[in-house]
Amino acid sequence: MSYFWSLAFLAAVPLVMAYSSGAPRGACVNLTPGHQNNASMIIPPQTGPSPYALSVSKNMYTPKEALTVSVNGASFRGILLQARLADDTLAGSFSNEPTNTKLIDCTNQPSTNSRDSVTHANSDPKSAGTSFTWTAPGDVGNVTFTATVLQEYEVFWVKLTSQEISATAAAGAPWVTVNSALIISLLGVVFVATKQ
Ligand SMILES: *[C@@H]1O[C@H](CO)[C@@H](O)[C@H](O)[C@H]1NC(C)=O
Ligand SMILES: *[C@@H]1O[C@H](CO)[C@@H](O)[C@H](O)[C@H]1NC(C)=O
Repeated sequence: MSYFWSLAFLAAVPLVMAYSSGAPRGACVNLTPGHQNNASMIIPPQTGPSPYALSVSKNMYTPKEALTVSVNGASFRGILLQARLADDTLAGSFSNEPTNTKLIDCTNQPSTNSRDSVTHANSDPKSAGTSFTWTAPGDVGNVTFTATVLQEYEVFWVKLTSQEISATAAAGAPWVTVNSALIISLLGVVFVATKQ
């Protein structure tokens, strides 16, 4: 059954990635595994409190900064983890995947080759505290880490979220200020030049 489980969960990803030019992309978008019971009925997610919590190494980031995201509380077998902007688009990329997990590209943009999501590579238990490395995008926007975590085939919680991680343009702000000032002075020069 474990074998079937991994296949069933991952099968949803390529299936819906065929719709990648826009709209819903199944598990990548709604983070629902679509697991079925023996009567071919979709198994609903757990609605009670989750044993899991997503924690992030920092509550803010600067462009291209690497952060660590951990799944705490209990061991788990399956996961689909992403960082999302306020409009639900995926942001940043994952790297250095821990054992028994793998990086995937839910956005499916060949030009960026982004590994915007991470999922399980098999149904082996992954220990509580398993950490993932995420590198922030170059442009800024607050992100929230969002995950579906499977304890067992039939037992999973969807769309668990971290705290919101705020984007800071601290490193970029002085550049903008200097350049605005520069542009204004240049305009002044042009203006003066035109008057003469
Ligand atoms: C399907 O049935 C088998 C045998 O009765 C059982 O062991 C298994 O847990 C069931 N699977 C699900 C997903 O309900
Ligand atoms: C981003 O997060 C910061 C800190 O929580 C907040 O002040 C700011 O309003 C947020 N920005 C947006 C666009 O939500």
